[in-house]
Amino acid sequence: MSEGQTIVESADNSSGAVKVDVDRVLADINDNIYSGFVEHMGRCVYGGIIDYEDSNGLTNDRGHRTDVAEALKKMKMPVVRYPGGNFCAQYHWLDGVGPKENRPRRVELAWLNEESNQFGTDEFMEWCEEMGYEPYLCLNMGTGTLDEALAWLEYCNSDGNTYYANLRRKNGREKPYNVKYWGLGNEIWGPWQVEQDTAEHYAKKAYQWAKALKLLDSSIQLVACGCTGFDKWDIEVSQKLIGMVDMYSIHLYTSNTDYYKNVTGPAAAERGIQIVSKLLDLAKITENKPNASVKVCFDEWNVWDPAKAPGQHGAEQIYDLTDALAVASWLNVFIRQARDVSMANIAQAVNVISPILTSKTGIVLQTTYYPFVLFSEHMRGKSLNLHVTSPLYKGPTEGFEGELHWAQGVESQIALLDVSAAVNDKTLTVAVVNRSLENDIAAKFAFDGSFKSDVKIWTLYDDDVSKKNTFDSPNAVVPKESSSSFAQISSSGYTFQKHSFTMLQFTLENK
Ligand code: AHR
Ligand code: AHR
Repeated sequence: MSEGQTIVESADNSSGAVKVDVDRVLADINDNIYSGFVEHMGRCVYGGIIDYEDSNGLTNDRGHRTDVAEALKKMKMPVVRYPGGNFCAQYHWLDGVGPKENRPRRVELAWLNEESNQFGTDEFMEWCEEMGYEPYLCLNMGTGTLDEALAWLEYCNSDGNTYYANLRRKNGREKPYNVKYWGLGNEIWGPWQVEQDTAEHYAKKAYQWAKALKLLDSSIQLVACGCTGFDKWDIEVSQKLIGMVDMYSIHLYTSNTDYYKNVTGPAAAERGIQIVSKLLDLAKITENKPNASVKVCFDEWNVWDPAKAPGQHGAEQIYDLTDALAVASWLNVFIRQARDVSMANIAQAVNVISPILTSKTGIVLQTTYYPFVLFSEHMRGKSLNLHVTSPLYKGPTEGFEGELHWAQGVESQIALLDVSAAVNDKTLTVAVVNRSLENDIAAKFAFDGSFKSDVKIWTLYDDDVSKKNTFDSPNAVVPKESSSSFAQISSSGYTFQKHSFTMLQFTLENK
C-alpha cells in the first residue's frame, strides 16, 4: 500500500493509530466502483435476476424477480456489465433479439451449457432501465466478427434509418439505448477461452475494432481486455492500445482456505492497480500519447474459490465472515486507489459467486452483501490519504492456486488494520477491517478537522469466522449499529474487535 496511505508498524499486536486530515484528499471516488456484472452463467440470469417460470408470486409482469431487485437496489450499482465473462466469447447477440419463439437454443461452450436466448439485449436493457443501471456490453472477440460488433452497436445506439437501427424499432424499441460502455473482449489470455489468443494478436485486432467502433459512434467508451495488471500481457496490451481505449480492464479473484491468506489476498489487487497504472503512464510516454486519458476498470473482482464453487456448476459459493472481511478489504483497495480506478464490477450480481442467493421461494443475503452495501451507501465523495499505525501481517500470501505468493514480498506492508476513509459533503466515513484473527486492536485517532458530537458505528462481527448466512439461518451475520461521541473517540480511540469490519461515521462542523 505504498500509494494511497502511509503505514508504520505498531509497537505491539494489539495497538494502532489512524491519523485523519480531511484536507488530505487523494482523489474523487468514482461512483462506478460499485458496479456489477450479469453473465449468462449458472443461475445469474435465469433463476437469478429473472424467472420466466415463476409460480410463487416473486416476479413482476416482465419476469423480473422483485425480491432480487429490492436487494440489488440497496447495493446501488451504477453500471452493470453483460453478457459475460467467458460467455461472451461465443455469444451471437442476434440470437437473443426478436420474437422469443424464433430464438435459437444454442450449445454454450464457456460453461458447457445450453442457452435458450429467452433473455437477450432488449430484455437486458429493459431490466437496466427498470433498475436504473447504465449498461456495459462486452463484445464477442472469440467467435464473433467486427461486422457483428458494429451491428450490435448500431442496434443499440443508432437513431439513423439503417438496417440494425430499424431492426431495433421493429423489435419494439424506437429510441436508441445509448450504451456508453463497450468491452473489447474478455480474458482473451485465459486457457479456458473459446478462442484464447496472444497479447500481440489481440492488441492488433482490438486496435482495428476500436477504430471502427468509434467511427460508428464516437461517444462510446471502450474498455481494453487486460489481464491482472501484473501480467506480461499487460505490458504488451497497454503499449499497443494506449490512445485507442478509455479504460483498461483487469480481473482478479482472491480466496484461500487459510484465514490470513484469504483476508490478505486483496493486497495483490492493490499492487495490480498500481502496476498497471504505471504501465499505462509508460505507454503514454513511449507511444507519445501524453494526454491519453485511460483509467483502470476492475470489471471482475471478488472472493472466489473454484474448488468450493466450480464454474461449470454455477459457482454458487456460500460465503462466511472471513470472506466478508476479504470483500471489505477489496473495497478499501478501491477507495485507496481511487485516483486510478474508474470502475469496478463485483462478479457477479446474483447466485454466481454473488452476495445474493435465490431459491424458488426467496433469497439469502450472504455475509459479503453487507460490506458492499455499507461501502456503496457511505464511501462516496473523496478518498483521503490516511496515516495508519498497525501490526503488519508477515506470513505467506496465496490465491486459490498459489498464484499470489509474491504479494508479501512485493507489497511488503500488509497492515492488519486495513483502513480507508471518504469525505462526502459533511460526512467523514472511516472503514476499518481488523484482519487480526487473534487480537482486538486498540487504535488511537488523531483528527484534523472539526466534528459534531455524534458518531455512527456499524460493525460486522461474530466469534466464529466461519459463520455463514443460509436459508435456514439468514441473519447469522448482519451488521450491528451503535453510536459513540467524537469526544470519546478522539480522546480514548476505538477498539476494533479481532476479525471484524467496522465503519465509523463522523459529521463535519460547518467551517
Ligand atoms: O465471473 C466468472 C468468470 O470468471 C467469468 O466468466 C470470467 O471472465 C472469469 O474467468
Ligand atoms: O479464474 C478463472 C476461472 O476459473 C475461469 O473463468 C473458470 O473457468 C475457472 O474455474
